[in-house]
Parts: sequence; C-alpha cells; structure tokens
Amino acid sequence: MRVLAVSSGKGGVGKTNFVANLALALEKKGQHTLIFDADLGLANVDVLLGLAPKRDIRHVLSGECTLKDIVIRTKYGFEVIPASSGVLELTRLAPSEKLSLKEQFEEVSQGVDFFIFDLGAGISDNVLFFNLVAQERIVITTPEPTAMADAYALIKLLFVRHQVKRIYLLVNLIRDEQEGKTVYRQIAQVAERFLGPVGLTYLGAIRNDPSVPRAVRQQEPFLHLFPDSPASRDLLQICEKLLRLKPKIEGGLEALWSQRSQALS
Ligand SMILES: Nc1ncnc2c1ncn2[C@@H]1O[C@H](COP(=O)(O)OP(=O)(O)OP(=O)(O)O)[C@@H](O)[C@H]1O
Ligand SMILES: [Mg+2]
Repeated sequence: MRVLAVSSGKGGVGKTNFVANLALALEKKGQHTLIFDADLGLANVDVLLGLAPKRDIRHVLSGECTLKDIVIRTKYGFEVIPASSGVLELTRLAPSEKLSLKEQFEEVSQGVDFFIFDLGAGISDNVLFFNLVAQERIVITTPEPTAMADAYALIKLLFVRHQVKRIYLLVNLIRDEQEGKTVYRQIAQVAERFLGPVGLTYLGAIRNDPSVPRAVRQQEPFLHLFPDSPASRDLLQICEKLLRLKPKIEGGLEALWSQRSQALS
C-alpha cells in the first residue's frame, strides 16, 4: 500500500478535486483507493462527491461507532472516510485514543493499494501530522505568486523541521504545459539554493478547465463526466507518472504512524 498526503500552502488550489479524480483514475487502473478526508476544519470530499454520510470521524472519536462503520464505497469503486467540520485536531487526542485510531486505520486499509489523505490548507499540526504519517507527499500550487510562496513555506517546514524529502509538486490551473514547468523550476531553484537537497519531483500540471467547476456543480468527478476534457487528460498523465514512481518504502502505516507522530507530540 502507498500512503499519500495531498496538501498545499494556500487554500482553494484544487486539492479535493485532485484527490477525488485521482482516486477514480487509480481505480480505473485497478488500484483500489481509499480517501481520508483529513481536512478536519472544513471537510468537503463528501460534498464534492454528493455523498451524504450519516456518521463521520467525529462519531468514531466519540466512541459511537468504529472507523469501519463510516467508510463509504462510492459508485466509482473507491472508498471515502468522511470527516465533518469542526472536529478536534487529531494531534490533540490522548495517546490511548491515537492508538485505537491507528489500529482502526490499519483495519480499514486492508486490501487498499492507495491510501490518500486530503488535507486542509496551511501548516497546522494536523496538516504536518498527516504529511509525516504518509510515505509520499503531493504539494499543490497554482502559478499565482501567493500560492507558490505558501507552497514553498510548507515544503521548507517539512524539510527543515522534519527532514521530509519525498515531495512531489503539482501545479494546478495552468494556461499551458510550459507554465507548469516554469513554476516547478522556480520553486525547485529557490528550495535548492536556500534549503539544500530537498528532492522535489515534478509530478505534472492540470490546465484551467471550465469542465472542473461544471463537474463540481453536478457533484461528480470531472474525469467521470468529461473524460476527454483537458483537465481529465492531464490528470490521467499524472496518474500514470505516479504509478511509474516506485518509491522505496520503509515500513507500513503502523510503523510510520508511531515514529512520525512522536515528532509532533
Ligand atoms: N483545473 C481546474 N480548472 C478550473 N477550476 C478548477 C480546477 N481545479 C480546481 N478548480 C476549482 O477551484 C475550486 C477549489 O477547488 P478545491 O475545492 O478542490 O480546492 P481545495 O484546495 O481542496 O480547497 P480547500 O483549501 O478549501 O480545501 C473549485 O471550485 C474548483 O471548481
Ligand atoms: Mg479541499
């Protein structure tokens, strides 16, 4: 199983759309995918996909049900663990609660090829925690200087404070392919100059495409409604690149969760 965290410095750059559509693309490639809506402040994977969860992670934390009870299998094949707005940050849980949650995460990820965390924007403890638990991290930016500066701030924090190296950069809302590469080059150059060997990998870029907001309004993945749109074609390329990248992974979710969460407690 590959465990991926998707985050960004700036909000609204397209994380949730990317995660939902990547899950569908992976599923089409025979890779069973589970999304955890880990944007615990402003959860919205469920809204994007038109799901109406009766229970979510809040009910698991309060002991009303188990994680397994809240997993939703979507009509697209992939599964979703829904969150809800205003849930306590997981990093503030008591050690016994963390342990129980860790065991439940292992249980629900049996048979899963890709476990993806859709995170909130910014650099909260929650965002850092899931970036550390994951084995690979995708940071999303747009070509806007503000989004680029915030993506750099997140990369810097992960690298300098937590020695995290395996980071992929994805550029969303580009005009043309060249723009994605330029954005990557600019961030990679600054990172190399001021931080050292960060090992930032270019994962690709997604064009600014009106079929994305159109699909959002219909609460379906754009890859499902508009499979030939520019955004869908870009997304499929990114999915293939991700499948080609075969990182050497140390330990499973369990080992990582234990090691990494120490760093933040
Ligand atoms: N490639 C694209 N082309 C056009 N519009 C896009 C594209 N990607 C995302 N959008 C639009 O940007 C908006 C924000 O997308 P999304 O909710 O996925 O961002 P986010 O990073 O998850 O936001 P948040 O930080 O609030 O979690 C959506 O309304 C979506 O329609
Ligand atoms: Mg989001």
